[in-house]
Amino acid sequence: MKKIETKPFLFTALKGISDKTITIHRDKLYASYVAKKNEICEKLEALSRGGDITNANQTYSNLRALKDGETFATNGVYLHEWYFDILGGDGQPSGPLVEALTEKYGSLKNFLAYFSACGMAARGWVVLC
Ligand SMILES: [Fe+2]
Repeated sequence: MKKIETKPFLFTALKGISDKTITIHRDKLYASYVAKKNEICEKLEALSRGGDITNANQTYSNLRALKDGETFATNGVYLHEWYFDILGGDGQPSGPLVEALTEKYGSLKNFLAYFSACGMAARGWVVLC
């Protein structure tokens, strides 16, 4: 369980996303996911090296809570990194992606409304891939 470091991301004037929003996501949210992942990994490391795992249980146990937190924090780390890696451009979808979304959802507007609603309903992220 290797300790990870925050990656440096330098952003300048992105269309449609304020500097404040980017700064909060990079310097607070992303950095917190990295810190929590490292904290959880230290605790899992201790458990994996002779710690008390006798009460492991899928409904509730210390190990269950740590593994659940590990998944959530790891998702937060990698999804932020992938998101930061693709920021930029004009923010307008185009090409085959728009054609496929229009075919599936009836219009790009329908897709964007549905995708945004999923983001409000989900605990975490909504990913289009
Ligand atoms: Fe974020």
